[in-house]
Amino acid sequence: MILVTGGAGFIGSNFVLDWLAEQDEPVVNLDALTYAGNLNNLRPIENDPRHIFVHGNIGDAALLSDLFTRHKPRAVVNFAAESHVDRSIHGPEDFIQTNILGTFRLLEAARAYWGGLQNKSDLRFLHVSTDEVFGTLGADDPAFNEETSYRPNSPYSASKAASDHLVRAYFHTYGLPVVTTNCSNNYGPLHFPEKLIPLVIHNALRGRPLPIYGDGMQIRDWLYVKDHCSAIRRVLEAGRLGETYNIGGWNERANLHVVTTLCEVLDELQPRSDGKKYSEQIAFVTDRPGHDRRYAIDARKIEAELGWRPAETFESGIRKTVRWYLDNADWVENVTSGSYRNWVEKQYA
Ligand SMILES: NC(=O)c1ccc[n+]([C@@H]2O[C@H](COP(=O)([O-])OP(=O)(O)OC[C@H]3O[C@@H](n4cnc5c(N)ncnc54)[C@H](O)[C@@H]3O)[C@@H](O)[C@H]2O)c1
Repeated sequence: MILVTGGAGFIGSNFVLDWLAEQDEPVVNLDALTYAGNLNNLRPIENDPRHIFVHGNIGDAALLSDLFTRHKPRAVVNFAAESHVDRSIHGPEDFIQTNILGTFRLLEAARAYWGGLQNKSDLRFLHVSTDEVFGTLGADDPAFNEETSYRPNSPYSASKAASDHLVRAYFHTYGLPVVTTNCSNNYGPLHFPEKLIPLVIHNALRGRPLPIYGDGMQIRDWLYVKDHCSAIRRVLEAGRLGETYNIGGWNERANLHVVTTLCEVLDELQPRSDGKKYSEQIAFVTDRPGHDRRYAIDARKIEAELGWRPAETFESGIRKTVRWYLDNADWVENVTSGSYRNWVEKQYA
């Protein structure tokens, strides 16, 4: 049994679906179902007895204690977080509550449970984090590696950095068997359409503007979500305790390039009815405050130590992603109703 938190969100639900497709070990999935959590993501396993969904908060100490006692997980994978940088700029409070205090409560519950175990190697705590904790890079700087110092620039990345430090401290102070992963930007199926790639696909198909912050030359290192999930499984299995592992796709791309690639794939798979190109919908908008210029991941450690490499290139992953959104219009319709619509219309109208 493993305990996954945030398993109704984008990466967490991909992880749970892939986990149960690959093996029989059951999953307890604890998720607060914020705007980003969606039970529809888990529909393929809604009647699967190996999936136990618990609607609750990682900040709820009593609930956590009960889950550990009842299910005796051999591993915790902590995805639960507030994850959207723009939202953290408009309202940082939730980020502090979930990303910092929530992770703290989860660590405390894990420590209490682990303290009572006869065999101390019967638990592993994997904390899922981001490359945004490292701050920003200049055009010629080397990519982030595991020795790069933390320089978070947004309330989101600062809150994730704080949680990473807590996880590290629980290893050094108490010996809790932890491992942390710092991953680059993910994309793929089940991605809530507030982030760049699903937002662009969503808006393109509705004839809306495709918003690009500033000059569009911000560089991110993109990773197909299924590759992130396989890396987490590998680190969970064989990562050295107390270590951190950077996960990336070796795919540095400027945002403008990402958007034009999406437009080209859409032109091919679902051409506009008026014969025009989707790129005509591109609209440059005022840059995000404190927008980091470049992220790049040096993923040599996970490859050398654990033999992990991504399976998808940027081009193959983008094509799969566009295909998925075209084939799953009802999922998009479902998650974009109600409060989402109001939020997006305010942001990008
Ligand atoms: N998306 C990326 O590109 C990326 C890259 C690197 C790391 N990460 C990290 O991976 C993790 C998952 O990211 P994501 O993109 O899937 O995020 P997401 O926003 O899609 O999902 C987060 C999930 O956590 C749940 N949640 C939020 N607060 C909670 C709480 N207090 N208690 C329990 N559940 C709660 C939400 O309901 C949602 O299901 C995050 O920790 C994020 O920092 C994301």
